[in-house]
Amino acid sequence: MLQTSHAVAADNVVDAEFVKAVIHGLAQPQKTLPCRYFYDARGSDIFELITELPEYYLTRSEAALLEENASAIMGQLTPDQVIVELGAGSSRKMDTLLRLAPNGVTFVPIDVSRHALTEARTRLAAKFPGLVVRPVVDDFSTLDAFPADLRHRKKLGFFLGSTIGNLDPKHASDMLRSWRRTLGGNAELVIGVDLLKDETTLVRAYNDAAGITAQFNLNILARINREITPAFHLPSFEHRAVFNADKSRIEMHLVSKVSQVVRICGQTFSFTAGESIHTENSYKHSSSAFRTIVEEAGWRIGRMWTDGLFSLYHLA
Ligand SMILES: C[S@@+](CC[C@H](N)C(=O)[O-])C[C@H]1O[C@@H](n2cnc3c(N)ncnc32)[C@H](O)[C@@H]1O
Repeated sequence: MLQTSHAVAADNVVDAEFVKAVIHGLAQPQKTLPCRYFYDARGSDIFELITELPEYYLTRSEAALLEENASAIMGQLTPDQVIVELGAGSSRKMDTLLRLAPNGVTFVPIDVSRHALTEARTRLAAKFPGLVVRPVVDDFSTLDAFPADLRHRKKLGFFLGSTIGNLDPKHASDMLRSWRRTLGGNAELVIGVDLLKDETTLVRAYNDAAGITAQFNLNILARINREITPAFHLPSFEHRAVFNADKSRIEMHLVSKVSQVVRICGQTFSFTAGESIHTENSYKHSSSAFRTIVEEAGWRIGRMWTDGLFSLYHLA
């Protein structure tokens, strides 16, 4: 059993929060769906494929930065400390750091994807027998289920994969501020942030030639079909990724190819041809924009490493 927040439904139960979020999102003038629902078992597996795509430089850049700076990040860690990974997914990038962790250190990967955490726990137990792994299925924006017995231990947190880019700057700052309370005033936090760069490189990273990101995006409709009701005809929607320069973000949309009506739990949602559902934002930050987010949240930037494409921040 994985430790699970009451706010996250079990696998075989219709998730009332999911139904509510879908109906609320599709009723907006710009239809929307929350991106956390990308990550059921299928979505988490597709995301792993994305990390290997030639166009998706983010994972390679961040993994190299973590490897080059692993000793600086892990050097001060003592066995009584707790390593926390927020939005952990497969935790693969953590290997390069966990191999430097002293025996007996506790690792708490937190994610909404039970599937990703179950696989990560099995893999990490085999690879790092000296590590205590305590996965938690929870929403990182609330962290309701953080293990009570670990609350007073010093934390080294990781928020990788540019996941912070899914939040607008105000919400990113609010969440970082709330983590100061949950992780504790003496915590450190390492965050991976994608840098603002030329539009062609950015759009290509979210619109790969093999169509894997399109599968990932469409999976949110497939998940609604599987878990709530078979409402969507998938071939009638297509993936679109665009750069919104005013907001400094990549937007992912699912565009209806035809005029159609979708029915979910007694509600009807009409689409005109070309109308979209906005499914994800990925904000791209300059170093000064990210500094503002961090400082407004009450954290201080200790160190920053970059390869010109991606940046890694060590906050205290
Ligand atoms: C972009 S992926 C990054 C995965 C991994 N950290 C990496 O760097 O490759 C985002 C991860 O965050 C998880 N996630 C998204 N929204 C979440 C939320 N609100 N609470 C907890 N986990 C969330 C997803 O399930 C997914 O595993």
